[in-house]
Amino acid sequence: MRDPDRHLDPDAVPEVDLTLPNPARVYDYLLGGAHNFATDREFAERMLTALPHARRAAVANRAFLGRAVRACLERGVRQFLDLGSGIPTAAPVHELARRIDPAARVAHVDVEPVSVAMSREILHGVDGTSITAADLTDPAAVLAAPGVAGLLDPAEPVAVLAVSVLHFVADDTLLATLADTYATAFGPGSMLVVSHGSTDVDDPAAAHDMRTVERLTRETSQPARARDRATLRRLLVDRPGHRLDLLEPGLVDVTAWRAEDLPAGRPVGMYALVGEVVPVAGGQSR
Ligand SMILES: C[S@@+](CC[C@H](N)C(=O)[O-])C[C@H]1O[C@@H](n2cnc3c(N)ncnc32)[C@H](O)[C@@H]1O
Repeated sequence: MRDPDRHLDPDAVPEVDLTLPNPARVYDYLLGGAHNFATDREFAERMLTALPHARRAAVANRAFLGRAVRACLERGVRQFLDLGSGIPTAAPVHELARRIDPAARVAHVDVEPVSVAMSREILHGVDGTSITAADLTDPAAVLAAPGVAGLLDPAEPVAVLAVSVLHFVADDTLLATLADTYATAFGPGSMLVVSHGSTDVDDPAAAHDMRTVERLTRETSQPARARDRATLRRLLVDRPGHRLDLLEPGLVDVTAWRAEDLPAGRPVGMYALVGEVVPVAGGQSR
């Protein structure tokens, strides 16, 4: 295994595009990881200059992911489809889930070569886990991939995790179609877990920060698009064929999602939601 304190050697992942910073590796750098390249680190440092609390936002997002996984397990959901799973070093989902429930299964999916390569390394020999190199905007390919179809029982509930990733899908209609497809692909009691950059959290400074993130990420391989609360409700929660029954406290900043035991902090401009997928009587079946 590589020394985690040494930065990644670009030759280790030949297919990677070194010309542009990539969100997966910028996020890894913000979380203190070493799976990133000079272009990612330079971009992250510029981001930290423009947004000094960007690191706190990454940490808060990751912490929300952990609390959400725990909440799903407490509801008896033991299967996870982690879309845009990233580089699984800081408190990885599979470790957290399997510590609480050793029978939990976690199918990771990411499109970015370093995330996939490092996931392969870290997940090698770990029961009940898989990593699939795929683009989440192609749900048919994702759901049919051996790492997903061969690991998750579609008749049982699955918690679909789309954490800090859907803001990379710019088109609203595509986003809603994708979320509908994944949310309704599995058995009754399935859950959807989302965090997403926001434009209208209660704190104007946080909303301004997200606008800055949007502007900065135009220089990266994946520009981000923040959305407001009403849009996220329309695209993810109140759907024609189903709705999401949101767990308390609903659609709130990641720092406020079941974080009672944490020190109160300023919102970071990322919405969080965890909801059970509930068919709507008389709704269009898909
Ligand atoms: C900011 S990271 C979030 C990682 C993790 N979900 C978390 O919240 O800690 C976003 C991840 O989504 C991945 N990603 C972005 N667009 C994707 C796509 N279309 N298909 C699959 N993965 C994608 C990126 O490669 C990156 O690893």
